[in-house]
Amino acid sequence: MPENILIAIAWPYANAEIHVGNLTGSHLPGDIVARYHRLKGNHVLMVSGTDSHGTPVSLRADAEGKPVESIYKKFHESFLQVFRSYGITYDLFTSTHTENHFKVSQSIFLALKENGFMFKQKSMQWYSPDARKFLPDRYVEGTCYICGDTNARSDQCDKCGNVLEPEKILNPRAKTGDGALELRETEHYYMDLSKLEPKVKEFLRERASHMRDTVLGESLGKIEAEGLLPRPITRDLDWGIPVPVEGWDDKCLYVWFEAVIGYLSAAIEWSRLGDDKESWREWWLNPDARQFYFIGKDNIFFHTSLWPAQLMGAGGQFLKIFAEEEKALALPYDIPANQFMNLEGQKISGSRNWAIWCLDAITRYDADALRYYLTVNMPENKDSDWDWAEFVARNNNELVANWGNLANRVLSFIYKHWEGVLPDPGELRAVDTALLNAVEAGFESVGRELDAVHLRAALQETLRLSSEVNKYLDVCAPWFEIKTDKNLAAKSVFTSLKAIDALKIMFAPFLPFSSEKLHTYLGYSKPLFGEQYQEMVADSLGEHAVLKYRGVEGLQWKPGDLRPGTLLRQPAALFKKLDEKLVDEERSRLGK
Ligand code: MF3
Ligand code: ZN
Repeated sequence: MPENILIAIAWPYANAEIHVGNLTGSHLPGDIVARYHRLKGNHVLMVSGTDSHGTPVSLRADAEGKPVESIYKKFHESFLQVFRSYGITYDLFTSTHTENHFKVSQSIFLALKENGFMFKQKSMQWYSPDARKFLPDRYVEGTCYICGDTNARSDQCDKCGNVLEPEKILNPRAKTGDGALELRETEHYYMDLSKLEPKVKEFLRERASHMRDTVLGESLGKIEAEGLLPRPITRDLDWGIPVPVEGWDDKCLYVWFEAVIGYLSAAIEWSRLGDDKESWREWWLNPDARQFYFIGKDNIFFHTSLWPAQLMGAGGQFLKIFAEEEKALALPYDIPANQFMNLEGQKISGSRNWAIWCLDAITRYDADALRYYLTVNMPENKDSDWDWAEFVARNNNELVANWGNLANRVLSFIYKHWEGVLPDPGELRAVDTALLNAVEAGFESVGRELDAVHLRAALQETLRLSSEVNKYLDVCAPWFEIKTDKNLAAKSVFTSLKAIDALKIMFAPFLPFSSEKLHTYLGYSKPLFGEQYQEMVADSLGEHAVLKYRGVEGLQWKPGDLRPGTLLRQPAALFKKLDEKLVDEERSRLGK
């Protein structure tokens, strides 16, 4: 029975371009796991979108002196380009600025309110008499009252990593430079997370066996130590989703409160755009569906605590409001958050241009070469580092030498000596079947790692199997065999090509472009994966572009497919060897 797999990827803020750290943090691991499950024949729904609201986006618009709407659209467009060029195959990449997302978010808010998880409370908020408005937490900076760092944002300190209570920040100043600040009274809705604390703890404990320790520590460990406290989930802002309560429409839902709801609303939007308008239910109302959330470590709390609490708190009430029936929503299965990737030993920083921007890197390197390095170096359990010398070395010594050359060498050899037709090997030798068995066991071992979202281990295991084929070829040496006995050589090249055919499937989630190419060289006509395309969607808020994916039905491949007599296609190199002098060139671009 195929499984329903939801691949939910953190929604990037529309305030900056995507760099390699963002890609390896969430989009790429999500895509690898999505492709793996698609190849397995599971029903995958991979969603995300542009996080269009919130102060990071407003701040950027203020800084550029442009309307927020134009800023979010500009970045949204560029995100779509990144995903197309790197093959990040979203079934739907949309935006939070859609009518559908507004409705779903407001329904969740109302469900929580009706279920008794919301209360109103007056509080003091930083106010700028000069600008005559309340300032969002992110507009206020000052000294962290926990660690003393002088550059803390009022809601979060990047130095010590703590979430802060904004009115406690010391020496407050407005990021926009608006004069002196004072605390004034305002009123907000609070989500009473403390009422849901036992349920959130139970939810996390149930998943403890398969969640990463880093994620559990940041969530269950933290809740056990500090408890879950009520949190304000509305803001004095005009850019965002209006609070759906009479007299409150000049306030907005807090960006984190509504952005996480995107995982649900995007599934609904996706199914409404397709033929089966209710198919979102297969991932959201089905207790057997597995939901995987791909996020960076700075987003852990919102996904392990706030989002499950919203889902549990809304319960059947959401569907009652939204579709007039009562059924509880599914909960996350795994939240394999990644740590951060640094660059040449320093933190990636957009403002200092200490970054590798995805749209720039792709003008000089192939997507699979970048995907390869970003996977072997993925910050799964600790921060990792992008090092240009290592990028070149691993490309040349591993991707090209171990895998690309292997495939190319064997294919070219057969192409030349058997006129492009896979020869009949006759009876296989023990050494041949041993190799094929070893490689085919990879479906099990690589698959197990992929299912557990151990992507580095999965890729290492695939490379290990590829090395086995190289060793086999060194021993059998068909280029010598052919001089004395062409039948012996036929056994060796047939066996090698069968192994390569299987390895191609194992590499495919990581290296989709080259695997697809190799697939055609091996004579196949149906592709392994589907296609990405863009569409415009109109609603009452205007128009938004979405990225979509049209899949192929099930896996277009079985171990027995490649038979003697198959007509192969003329092969070409799968990857490019890179020149060492790139290292200095690339390093000299940084920080300028
Ligand atoms: N926009 C946030 C960030 O870039 C992530 C939001 S993830 C979501 O850090 F779930 F809330 F959408
Ligand atoms: Zn601090």
